[in-house]
Amino acid sequence: HEEFTKVKNVATIELGRYEIETWYFSPFPPEYNDSLKLYFCEFCLNFMKRKEQLQRHMRKCDLKHPPGDEIYRSGTLSMFEVDGKKNKVYGQNLCYLAKLFLDHKTLYYDVDLFLFYVLCECDDRGCHMVGYFSKEKHSEESYNLACILTLPPYQRKGYGKFLIAFSYELSKKEGKVGTPERPLSDLGLLSYRGYWTRVLLDILKKHKGNISIKELSDMTAIKAEDILTTLQSLELIQYRKGQHVICADPKVLDRHLKAAGHGGLEVDVSKLIWTPYK
Ligand code: COA
Ligand code: NA
Repeated sequence: HEEFTKVKNVATIELGRYEIETWYFSPFPPEYNDSLKLYFCEFCLNFMKRKEQLQRHMRKCDLKHPPGDEIYRSGTLSMFEVDGKKNKVYGQNLCYLAKLFLDHKTLYYDVDLFLFYVLCECDDRGCHMVGYFSKEKHSEESYNLACILTLPPYQRKGYGKFLIAFSYELSKKEGKVGTPERPLSDLGLLSYRGYWTRVLLDILKKHKGNISIKELSDMTAIKAEDILTTLQSLELIQYRKGQHVICADPKVLDRHLKAAGHGGLEVDVSKLIWTPYK
């Protein structure tokens, strides 16, 4: 993978009201490679080399939100589902943008094969992208998320866990279990660990009597392997008579829950209007 070794080209981007320092190389078309700064239209994600080009663009671009369907709205938060096949350029632009903050993902997918879930904070000027995740339309490996990004100005506010929770709500509606595509970045793994811990331990706390990993998986759409590794890392699994047994001492659960950090922003499932992709 040639792009892994390439040096960072674009150092900063302008996106809406933010100027953002980039983290990694992204394979923009050659004519953009001599630019230290790129100017993005925050709605259609087209990018330009000069501020004046962006200003001219903003006068004629009539998008005020991502293309595609709004499938969730709660307060000022909206989620849009963008089909990469119907909105190819948008999907490609989003991948170029995302790669600036993703180290090890190869982003030369065919965007046709993906759906993009773009999370926005909305006000009277429009819907401003906060982050997104992508999802394969058909995954053999039961992946329910390919890439996830919270834009740096919005990080560490609970949006990442919201995106993760959202990906599992979609899996529940599909009646399937899901898991994120590997490898996960350090920040990705931390976010998933936090999410899995909170969801599983909340259930264990409330539940009376025995519960199996299969039952936990059915309730949460979290893949059994991810449940097992999470509970093992918390030392909540014992192996007795050839079986995995969950040992959930309430005091131990509370200690782990505290360490797992905030719950993140809640997904209000009643506000999700969505049918699985066919
Ligand atoms: N330092 C330490 N822990 C961090 C962290 C940081 N800079 N950023 C996130 N975390 C951990 C914390 O445990 C945090 O929970 P807490 O705030 O309750 O302690 C948890 O991750 C999730 O935080 P949250 O605010 O919900 O996530 P986020 O909106 O910051 O988004 C990512 C998380 C992974 C999406 C974001 O860091 C990102 O976009 N990174 C770049 C792209 C990437 O690596 N994606 C994953 C590829 S698989
Ligand atoms: Na991927």
